[in-house]
Amino acid sequence: MKNKVIIITGAGMGLGLATAELLAEQGAKLSLVDYNAEALSQAKETLENANPGVEILTITADVSDEKAVKGYVDQTLEKFGRIDGFYNNAGIEGRQAPMTDYDVNIFKKVIDINLMGVYYGMRYVIPAMQKQNYGRIVNVASVGGIRGVLNQTPYVASKHAVSGMTKNAALEYGRDGILTNAIAPGAILTPMVAEAFKQVNPSDPKAAETEYAQRNPTKRLGQPKEVATVVAFLLSEENGYVNGQTIAIDGGESNIYGNS
Ligand SMILES: NC(=O)c1ccc[n+]([C@@H]2O[C@H](COP(=O)([O-])OP(=O)(O)OC[C@H]3O[C@@H](n4cnc5c(N)ncnc54)[C@H](O)[C@@H]3O)[C@@H](O)[C@H]2O)c1
Repeated sequence: MKNKVIIITGAGMGLGLATAELLAEQGAKLSLVDYNAEALSQAKETLENANPGVEILTITADVSDEKAVKGYVDQTLEKFGRIDGFYNNAGIEGRQAPMTDYDVNIFKKVIDINLMGVYYGMRYVIPAMQKQNYGRIVNVASVGGIRGVLNQTPYVASKHAVSGMTKNAALEYGRDGILTNAIAPGAILTPMVAEAFKQVNPSDPKAAETEYAQRNPTKRLGQPKEVATVVAFLLSEENGYVNGQTIAIDGGESNIYGNS
């Protein structure tokens, strides 16, 4: 990844930050986007301390705001002159509730961030990559983009859409040297998942986590670094021919049918 210019959305914590850490170690130049300005500046400090000399641009932007998305793409091009890789990662889970009880405003917010945010990102990044005749895009779907997840209708709908848009981008822009893939993480221990366990069992989130892990063939949750290594490959030139795929990173959990 030496000197490759990579945009990461949702870079302030969780999966985005873990990938930023790995790519910084590998010598990439990073454009980090998040709507949490404080998390973003902490992330920058952590990355600079661990990787003296690393070049980092931070941009506070909400990915569901089309103008702000154009803004982070323009600012990246202004500073670095090109975009080699795009980790289209920012997303939210929403609140958990059965489909017919789901708060419609939260439903729309999940769609705005997880679906429209991912779309706006590709809409503005792809033309820059076309000019270079080179680019690698990794969109973040979820195991909820492959199958249903109880009480998470808008999340599941948005993540299936991410997988679908990934296939279309692969079809339409493969000819321009742009490879687009999605990842489908299972339960990876990030702040988002910690919050989900709090919703499942507010008095004992750790018990909810332990119980959940038992369903996984590996009997544990995943670590953000285990996602980052796959993302780093898909964002690199080493990936020459993987295009339009949704790759599960879930310890094999999505293969289970029925009780295990
Ligand atoms: N952690 C998991 O187990 C898991 C599993 C499947 C999919 N995912 C997906 O991975 C991605 C990252 O999840 P995570 O677990 O790291 O979450 P997280 O909540 O730990 O971190 C997400 C980051 O994205 C930022 N963000 C959220 N909405 C934004 C917006 N509209 N604009 C800009 N920044 C925004 C947040 O401020 C935060 O820094 C999400 O798309 C999520 O759906 C995570």
